[in-house]
Amino acid sequence: METIVVDYQNCFIVILVSLFSLLCLFVLYFKKPKDSRACNVPPSPPSLPIIGHLHLILSVLPHKSFQKLSKYGSLLCLRIFHVPIILVSSASVAYEIFKTHDVNISSHGHPPIDECLFFGSSSFVMAPYGDYWKFMKKLMVTKLFGPQALERLRGARADELERFHASLLSKEMKSENVEIAKEAMKLTNNSICKMIMGRSCLEENGEAERVRGLVTQTFALFKKIFLTQLLRRLFEILRFSLFKKEILAVSSKFDELLERILVEHEENPDYRDMDMMDVLLAAYRDENAEYKITRNQIKALFVELILGGTDTSVQTIEWTMAEIINKPNILERLRNEIDSVVGKTRLIQEKDLPDLPYLQAVIKEGLRLHPPGPLLGRKVIRECMIGGFYVPKNTTLVVNAYAVMRDPSSWEDPDEFKPERFLASSRRPEEEREQTLKYLPFGSGRRGCPGENIGYIFVGTAIGMMVHCFDWRIKEDKVNMEETVAGMTINMAHPLRCTPVARMQPLNSNPQNFSS
Ligand code: HEM
Repeated sequence: METIVVDYQNCFIVILVSLFSLLCLFVLYFKKPKDSRACNVPPSPPSLPIIGHLHLILSVLPHKSFQKLSKYGSLLCLRIFHVPIILVSSASVAYEIFKTHDVNISSHGHPPIDECLFFGSSSFVMAPYGDYWKFMKKLMVTKLFGPQALERLRGARADELERFHASLLSKEMKSENVEIAKEAMKLTNNSICKMIMGRSCLEENGEAERVRGLVTQTFALFKKIFLTQLLRRLFEILRFSLFKKEILAVSSKFDELLERILVEHEENPDYRDMDMMDVLLAAYRDENAEYKITRNQIKALFVELILGGTDTSVQTIEWTMAEIINKPNILERLRNEIDSVVGKTRLIQEKDLPDLPYLQAVIKEGLRLHPPGPLLGRKVIRECMIGGFYVPKNTTLVVNAYAVMRDPSSWEDPDEFKPERFLASSRRPEEEREQTLKYLPFGSGRRGCPGENIGYIFVGTAIGMMVHCFDWRIKEDKVNMEETVAGMTINMAHPLRCTPVARMQPLNSNPQNFSS
């Protein structure tokens, strides 16, 4: 019999809320559907009385618990108390959804807690697909992730890569081992902070360390935030706020920190070299702006960009590195490619990436097997028919990207790490497009990740540098690839620790410059 390991820390919620919810169930659950189509909902797998399928979300690895349900169908209707959730587990249904219904599912749902800075009523991620979201997305695409914006801060990201290299070099000189995720966290967090806040968030003044601390605290709260969002109406009816205090405490620390940075920007404007924060502050002050944004919306966006970009990139770097270390033949092929393009006298640079197809394929394959965000949650904003079933408005839709990207009917040897599958093939453009809609590490459609390009840059340069400059020793024969879920991202149950051994030292690299 299959077993599901449940996170007992959270089990008290089940007991508490189930008692209160009994009453609501009678009112909400036994209501007769008015519409005959409402009877044609997707099938439901076996569930527990009252709590429905809640135990699956509380399990240690929800993406795997959900994946096991695919034996009942690739489109299922689950129930958390009285709240229905449509679960998608196959590549073909995901393809249909993003090809045909993207606009119907272009919302991430209601904020779990309105007053919270991140994912609250000022949030970008939780904003409905409307004027505010479109205004911010346009700003982001042009001023943060557009070609000119990326070019402007290329030097700053190269400095961070050098700092990362120098830190590894200083560890190798002391024969110390490295916790890859910790080092990669500094790299991505510093790079993102520099991109969005420019001059204000520096390693040297301790601000970056404070931001990293808050990011870690927020990730630890993600499951609670998700449950608060899912059961929001029930909590409101019961006048019950299970995690609110805890979540708002972290939110107010972020608020304080960002307010200080905003004020600093206002007091020292730099009109010649405007960063994203300057651009948003100008829009905030501009009476005639296309959309009148608030100060809270600026702060919320920054927190969400930091949250959205940091851990996702870090987990990808760690998992992909682990896969490479476990496959010496892949490591060798990758190294040969980088040596031939970059040579042996300098560090890899962003501009090398287009000339390194195998490196790109390795990263894509790392993301396919280990998507940091395995479950994509959306709200259905317009009723629709999916896979022949009726899906009503306001239903929560969860696409299990993890299951979709390991679906054997779309991926050959789905559990194997085979980067070759992403090398240029003879696929026709239509087949290529179909494949793209089944490859979901960054989500898809309108609400897909706006940071995809920069994510590939962070991961590509970090992995490229680590493979190019160092050999990696581990204590065991193989890296243990067991998973755990921290917050909502898939992490390594045993964080990757390994000892770097320098194989080449670029000219002008100096561990004294950046070691910490
Ligand atoms: C390897 C790196 C990354 C991965 C795997 C990743 C993955 C994702 C995923 C799965 C989503 C949800 C998409 C959906 O619902 O369809 C998302 C959304 C988002 N990501 Fe990323 N991401 C990465 C890097 C970044 C970076 C570097 C940033 C910004 C600096 C960023 C900012 C965002 C934002 C703001 C959203 C919300 C979009 C919206 O609501 O419209 N991400 N990301």
